[in-house]
Amino acid sequence: MNRVMLTGGGGFVAGNIIGQSAPELKVHAIETREVSFRRNNLSWHAVDLLDTPALKSLFDHIRPDVVVHAAALSDIDFCEAHRDQAERVNVAVTRVLAELCREMNSRMIYFSSDSVFDGETGNYSEENEPQPLNVYARTKVDAENIVAHTVPDWVIVRPSLVLGLPAFAAGNSFLWRMMQALQEGNTVAFPSEEIRSPIDVITLSRAILELAEHDYKGYLHLSGNDALSRLAMARRIARRLGYEEAVVVDKKPDVEGERARRPRDVSLSNRRAKQILKTPLRSFSEGLDLALTHKGVERP
Ligand SMILES: NC(=O)c1ccc[n+]([C@@H]2O[C@H](COP(=O)([O-])OP(=O)(O)OC[C@H]3O[C@@H](n4cnc5c(N)ncnc54)[C@H](OP(=O)(O)O)[C@@H]3O)[C@@H](O)[C@H]2O)c1
Repeated sequence: MNRVMLTGGGGFVAGNIIGQSAPELKVHAIETREVSFRRNNLSWHAVDLLDTPALKSLFDHIRPDVVVHAAALSDIDFCEAHRDQAERVNVAVTRVLAELCREMNSRMIYFSSDSVFDGETGNYSEENEPQPLNVYARTKVDAENIVAHTVPDWVIVRPSLVLGLPAFAAGNSFLWRMMQALQEGNTVAFPSEEIRSPIDVITLSRAILELAEHDYKGYLHLSGNDALSRLAMARRIARRLGYEEAVVVDKKPDVEGERARRPRDVSLSNRRAKQILKTPLRSFSEGLDLALTHKGVERP
């Protein structure tokens, strides 16, 4: 395996995958915006994934061994308010990529989410059935089904909340947004009733790169070892950054209904991932340390 096509290259997670990639691996990263970062093993392709002819022609040109499909509309409240757009980007684009992977015999690694579960029980394994509660989660489940039924060589990863710093731009990193707010002297609010088992972005990136060369096929939950509320998580981060815990306040339930519905406890069991991967999965503290010491990509 030597050619990887990576969608969402300028985003939070995919940017870190680029940062962790070995020099021998040729990475073709797709992004709509110009990203100034350059590296010998990296080619940028400015393509809107909704432009199917452009995507097909790029696929024919690259002929990827592996497609890592990380691009998505990942803002849950935006997806709730823009259902058609969410379906076009998160579902229709995945269908095009899945069909191209089948035609070209490419392995496909699709980024789903812990949010596919309803959060009633927590500690979800790959055997549990998804029960999506919001538009974003429904688009992820629809895309999962397309990948599993279209591509012969597929992996669907369901990461938990991802902890880390963006490589190029803010993207979907809550840690980065929290650090910005604290540096500006603001308090931050996180809900006590949303439980996750966060994974740091460096471990996640290494796991994805390992999976690119692995023969595992199926669903895989990628999470850290600890389940904790978003409030507890943020308080531990604040302490680690040298702030008083009081800078993190409890975010009250959304009585006005302005936020999309969130599942209560979507902590994941990472038992299967631990059996399959050499990449070690970490405790919350270890993951936070790793995330804070790898600030984006090292310049060559
Ligand atoms: N971050 C988390 O905690 C988390 C947790 C579970 C699952 N996930 C999943 O993991 C994946 C990566 O998440 P992330 O946090 O890295 O998200 P992100 O920072 O929002 O990155 C998503 C990327 O997709 C790109 N994209 C969106 N529409 C596109 C289009 N039409 N054409 C080309 N590129 C397009 C965006 O580019 P523009 O900026 O140019 O629009 C952006 O670079 C997503 O599938 C997400 O659902 C994330």
